[in-house]
Amino acid sequence: MQLFLDTANVDEIREAAALGVISGVTTNPSLIAREGRDFQQVVREITEIVDGPISAEVISTEAGAMVAEAEELARIHPNVVIKIPMLPEGLKAVSRLESRGIRTNVTLVFSANQALLAALAGASYVSPFVGRLDDAGHEGMEVVADTVEIFTLHGLQTKVIAASIRHPLHVVAAARAGAHVATVPYKTLMQMTRHPLTEVGLKKFMDDWARLQNR
Ligand code: E4P
Repeated sequence: MQLFLDTANVDEIREAAALGVISGVTTNPSLIAREGRDFQQVVREITEIVDGPISAEVISTEAGAMVAEAEELARIHPNVVIKIPMLPEGLKAVSRLESRGIRTNVTLVFSANQALLAALAGASYVSPFVGRLDDAGHEGMEVVADTVEIFTLHGLQTKVIAASIRHPLHVVAAARAGAHVATVPYKTLMQMTRHPLTEVGLKKFMDDWARLQNR
């Protein structure tokens, strides 16, 4: 299982990359808009920090226009993976791009059927949105588990990214469901590093050590 960072903030990416636990980065138009910076420049900077798949999303909804946008983004760096929304036009774009060697990540996936279609179109990655399904009253992780089971059963090579992760328990559940990747916000990554007993234990070690020095 790999962890990607779900952000377009280069400071967060630098911090997380220094931990040595991040294998890639995912962005989306909302995350890019939050930074208020030039899209291509942000993607370029991310490729300089993390040597792994960097998802950058198209904003067109017609296959030809998606392919044109994707080709421009793919020129930024070979690690750029094109995020394509789960639409019939998106599936057309995925099969054209993958046949030209441009990797894709099908986003806004909310059912195992959508994930199956993305895989059959040849996508390198599919991203079921766990948190948004939970918000709508569904068990989001079931889509991840069903998708992993179907891909394994039928030998489909597409990797499953558990996306829209909201808290550390989602990451544990994604790992147990067999997701190849969980893409996590920086806040969740830092929450994963912490445990109150680690803090209590470290304080005791430090206090005991200080007492020894003062003898
Ligand atoms: C990942 O690829 C998605 O862009 C992201 O996980 C969406 O998360 P959200 O539902 O918290 O916006």
